[in-house]
Amino acid sequence: MDYDKEAITTPYVTAFIREKTEQTDELLKGLEAYAKENRVPIAEPETARLLSVLTRLKQPQRVLEVGCAIGYSSLVISKGLAEGGTILTLEYDPEMVEIARENIKRAGKSRVIHVVEADAKDYLAYIDEDESFDMIFLDGPKAHYVNMLDDIVRLLKKGGLLITDNVLFKGMTADDGHFARRKVTIIHRLREYIDALMAHPQLETSILSQGDGVTLSVKTVSDKERFGY
Ligand SMILES: C[S@@+](CC[C@H](N)C(=O)[O-])C[C@H]1O[C@@H](n2cnc3c(N)ncnc32)[C@H](O)[C@@H]1O
Repeated sequence: MDYDKEAITTPYVTAFIREKTEQTDELLKGLEAYAKENRVPIAEPETARLLSVLTRLKQPQRVLEVGCAIGYSSLVISKGLAEGGTILTLEYDPEMVEIARENIKRAGKSRVIHVVEADAKDYLAYIDEDESFDMIFLDGPKAHYVNMLDDIVRLLKKGGLLITDNVLFKGMTADDGHFARRKVTIIHRLREYIDALMAHPQLETSILSQGDGVTLSVKTVSDKERFGY
């Protein structure tokens, strides 16, 4: 089976969607160009647009992001926050942290987006604000998503939205024939993560073949909690 290394769907469909999803924000456009030139992995344009639509729909007060890189997706998300809303974004690469803070400053969002230099694998356990995030964007260490899930669900509000990027990983998650041998651990971990999401009693999850594969999970509220019976 042939596949496009840049996308998980057919190349002409991806090209069509990308052509229609042009970035109009000059600063974000500049960050896309910088990321391309410097090989920094940031959300695909269609995933960035999905993030933008979902955030504007949800209008979250508090957002947690794992994997800030140069601040691109944080800035996309920041446009849809509720008034006074904030983003806590984690990044362990000091060089990325510096670039992200500079970009966030240029956008005038330093009071809105707080970049914490930390290894998310350890840091999540130290955030003691249970059920305080309306939205979580998981876009960091793919092989560790499955181990982070308990903390992620703990931190997410009931009715909150968890968005996870790269779950189909160039299509490799979905088909043994596409496996690059050196990626075997990541692929197995991503499969475990998807299984954990789908089986989780507190999450309702949809898998989208969008960009590099995105899952959308809502932390469910029981009828008893909703209606009192
Ligand atoms: C795909 S990039 C994030 C892109 C960003 N969300 C965007 O779309 O603009 C993943 C980032 O996660 C960071 N990262 C990887 N493992 C991490 C960890 N354990 N803790 C914190 N950050 C990590 C990487 O340094 C990288 O910058």
